[in-house]
Amino acid sequence: MYAKFHAIGAYAPSKVLSNADLEKMVDTTDEWILKRTGISQRRIASDDEYTSDMGVKASSLAIKRAGLEHSDIDLVVCATVTPDYFNMPSTACVISDKLGIYNVQAFDISAACSGFVYALSVAKAFVESGMKKHVLIVGAEKFSSIVDYTDRTTCILFGDGAGAAVISATNDKSESIIDIHASADGSYADFLVTPAPGSIHPVSQQVIDEGLNFVQMKGNETFKLAVRTLTKDVKDILFKNKIDSKEIPHFIPHQANYRIIKAVGDALKMDEKQVVLTVEKYGNTSAASIPMAINDIYESGRLKKGELMLLDTFGGGLTWASALLPFAGETL
Ligand code: UT7
Repeated sequence: MYAKFHAIGAYAPSKVLSNADLEKMVDTTDEWILKRTGISQRRIASDDEYTSDMGVKASSLAIKRAGLEHSDIDLVVCATVTPDYFNMPSTACVISDKLGIYNVQAFDISAACSGFVYALSVAKAFVESGMKKHVLIVGAEKFSSIVDYTDRTTCILFGDGAGAAVISATNDKSESIIDIHASADGSYADFLVTPAPGSIHPVSQQVIDEGLNFVQMKGNETFKLAVRTLTKDVKDILFKNKIDSKEIPHFIPHQANYRIIKAVGDALKMDEKQVVLTVEKYGNTSAASIPMAINDIYESGRLKKGELMLLDTFGGGLTWASALLPFAGETL
């Protein structure tokens, strides 16, 4: 039994937060943000729009595009670091309920920006073992709920959104997921951290006063490590599978910063046409970043059935992951 990437869906909230808007909120400029990150706008969920709501919209689309009923899904995995609740019930349970999917296993994965590819590896293992037939994997984030909009070093980067995919069983090896490498190094935990709430800092007045509920990042250190790790990760997976970077029509890196993507693409001698970019319009949507980018090329007609995708991601933990797989859904 093999696992195939059967269908993709995504959702971006309608509210746009532009660089011009941020200029009015913190000491920054459109020019600085564009030059240092490649981001010109990001989407922000409304107050009553939650991570699960965005996940549900992306999931409904993916299930429909797979030609399945909601009742065909036998496992739901949601990757998020901005769950509806800290930490019960899981956002996967909330999503399952909103989709009317009952009596199946549902759980969350916390691997920050690498979460979607981590979820992909879990889905692959469940399907290949014969335990599940159609796994729904979701990357959904309401990152605006943990961003301090007075901190110019982080608030310019992140946005909200969701992406989802259906991973299904197949006997046809030619359409199966080829390989996934996922890894972590917890010694860099302090590079990207949301200190509270948690068992170290339960909710308290001190948490509120010191803003410990907001994401904190060592930006420059993270940047350098991201370039090194992403490049090595891609080289390793291509070498192991005897594929040249030139043979990849769709290199889909985590959309954190255009300069990181450019440095990795250059190190791999990739042509600009091979590299998928959504960072300019969505910013960094963490676990939603990769599936939103896949959906972008799918909906624009750029991604065709059978074409190879190379996913590469990096995030808090620190975690990182790459995946090599053909798109096994129907061309739109
Ligand atoms: O998804 C998880 C992975 N996350 C990432 O990959 C993020 C990686 N990091 C980055 O993308 C970049 O490090 C940033 C975009 C966050 C920052 O860019 P940088 O080129 O590394 O800048 P820097 O932190 O070295 O700061 C340079 C200067 C500083 O001023 P001084 O000390 O040189 O006077 C900062 O205070 O830029 C200043 N600065 C800003 N200026 C205007 C920092 N943020 C801003 C801002 N507007 N928003």
